[in-house]
Amino acid sequence: MSLENPQRYTVTAALIYANGPIHIGHLAGCYLPADIYVRYLRATGKDVAFISGTDEHGVPITIKAKKEGVTPQEVVDKYYTQIKQSFEDFGISFDIYSRTSNQIHHETSQEFFLNLYNKRHFTEETTEQYYDDVAKQFLADRYIVGVCPVCGNENAYGDQCERCGSTLSPTELKEPLRSMLSGSKPILKATKNWYLPLDRMQPEIETYVNSHTEWKTNVFGQCQSWLKEGLRPRAMTRDLDWGIKVPLPDTDGKVLYVWFDAPIGYISMTKEWAAEQGRDWELYWKDKDTKLVHFIGKDNIVFHCIIFPAMLMNEGSLILADNVPANEFMNLEGGKISTSRNWAVWLHEYLDEMPGKEDVLRYVLAANAPETKDSEFTWKDFQNRNNSELVGIFGNFVNRAVVLTQKFCDGEVPAKCDLTEYDQQVLNELAQFPDRIGQAISQYRFREALAHLMDLSRLGNKYLADTEPWKVIKTDPMRVNTILNIALQITANLSIVCEPFLPFTAVKLRNMLNTDKLNLPHTGWINAGRFDLLPEGHELGEVALLFEKLEDSVIEKQIQKLHESKRMNELATKEVPAIKQEITYDDFAKLDIRIGTIVEAERVPKSDKLLKLKVDDGLQQRQILSGIAKHFGPEELIGKQVTFLANLAPRKMMGLESQGMILMAEDRDGSLALLPPHKPVWNGGTVS
Ligand code: MF3
Ligand code: ZN
Repeated sequence: MSLENPQRYTVTAALIYANGPIHIGHLAGCYLPADIYVRYLRATGKDVAFISGTDEHGVPITIKAKKEGVTPQEVVDKYYTQIKQSFEDFGISFDIYSRTSNQIHHETSQEFFLNLYNKRHFTEETTEQYYDDVAKQFLADRYIVGVCPVCGNENAYGDQCERCGSTLSPTELKEPLRSMLSGSKPILKATKNWYLPLDRMQPEIETYVNSHTEWKTNVFGQCQSWLKEGLRPRAMTRDLDWGIKVPLPDTDGKVLYVWFDAPIGYISMTKEWAAEQGRDWELYWKDKDTKLVHFIGKDNIVFHCIIFPAMLMNEGSLILADNVPANEFMNLEGGKISTSRNWAVWLHEYLDEMPGKEDVLRYVLAANAPETKDSEFTWKDFQNRNNSELVGIFGNFVNRAVVLTQKFCDGEVPAKCDLTEYDQQVLNELAQFPDRIGQAISQYRFREALAHLMDLSRLGNKYLADTEPWKVIKTDPMRVNTILNIALQITANLSIVCEPFLPFTAVKLRNMLNTDKLNLPHTGWINAGRFDLLPEGHELGEVALLFEKLEDSVIEKQIQKLHESKRMNELATKEVPAIKQEITYDDFAKLDIRIGTIVEAERVPKSDKLLKLKVDDGLQQRQILSGIAKHFGPEELIGKQVTFLANLAPRKMMGLESQGMILMAEDRDGSLALLPPHKPVWNGGTVS
């Protein structure tokens, strides 16, 4: 059951790890839907606290620090600033964007922990964990390296093999195990930690989840499958040196589990905000009439639907989430978005290249949000939606309404005269849109809401196309006044209902309509649907361009950039191949390797790979076919000395005989290099 029509909302968006910049997948999956929701609530006059910030603890931060050779503190400082800026740039309208490293958060989390501890809600358990005896540290799963049991990768991590993608636990790794910290072999060592006995809480948690059959099916379904498996106790403290200290005696080297402290961040950040605003934070977390909604990505569902609620239940005085509208993932150009493989569109880079196009991205991501299943972003779709929907429908309608008014009515809102039946019908339809859009938003169906918004622009477009004021002006100027009045009222309505989705455009529209002059709370959803928003005689502002067409070249550049940056990344992270199986000297001695000179070279007809070479080996000119046509032109090879294998059994390729094989070195990027001797030697010189 969901709270009906509450006046107060606490809306949170996942506290993202401050260990990297953010990309379109983050926006589409979590922050944009949250922002649309919140902007709508504000427009309907609700009291909203929109809370988010960065998650600055946990192993992901320490790993990034190690990779970059800096301290964890430097990592979180850098990315907090960058992430905050990106959200601001895209108009994500948090009431506060804070961080879990703040003092108030440390205090709030420790208090929370002690509260549960004192009420005996934790169990103490001693378990054997992997320990690095050289670095004198317990090892997070990520810090243990061994052989992947699935694919044999020798550098698999204790939580995951990055080569084959298998999820692992350290005990599944095949030996020899290594610690990433010192390289030494991890040993098992006993350690005491505090556990949340979720197993014992299963009935209460089931009752809670089952009372929310209205949750999205992807969310409800995931909860059910966890519950069905049976909940297990989970450690709420960890042996790690980065995080919030466990507030108990004799706990050196132990911190709160990052998934214990992070969601408490929602509370501590609300406190921080409320203090700044002179409000009472408790209203937002304790009042039964406050609706708490968590926006997250699908990988966070169990933490927000099971573990955090369990913590809140034990605490006792706090409200539980009314809804957790988690999204699935967004893919990119046919592949999974991946930070480590650099397959992403980064927000901070997007704006460098597409200045002023915040709303275009917001629009495309919302239209394509992974609401019920994974979705996909492609630059072609981005271009199409921009050109045919934003420019072709929304922009076109607004532009025509305003420009025609400038032209025929001196830029003033003309008076409506007698309405035709058709006018009346259009106005009736107009009146239904705000509710339709609002309903969809409040039920977390943002794609549908956006589709309704576009339908409203379509209605306007159709109205102008049907009534043809540019023709009617010659015969019946009074009629044109009515038509343009109606078109402008639709535009004014658009400026209200587009605001949650396209806030930058809404501002431009309001300027164009000069609505700030009117004593209208123009963001007030309550006014939407009316057709007297703009009074007769009201003077419009300046016409501005809302959207512009995107040319193919711009889009192609983005696609190229994506592939290029992935390739650069592959090069940077490519590993030297492992050494092949051992052989004996006798094995080697069988190979007759020699030096010769290429005297002729030509392409093999109908083959894009093969070159036909004549090599002077001191005895004769032998024909060798070599699959290097993509790497070398025939001309550049003639006269070059090369190393070749002279006693390879002859083989036929494309009907031609090949007597031997040219040896090549492969560079990191896959390009090939010949192997000439370091000073010229006679043709036939042997290599050993
Ligand atoms: N840091 C987590 C992630 O990026 C999300 C934490 S959400 C919170 O996946 F609830 F814990 F804050
Ligand atoms: Zn593997």
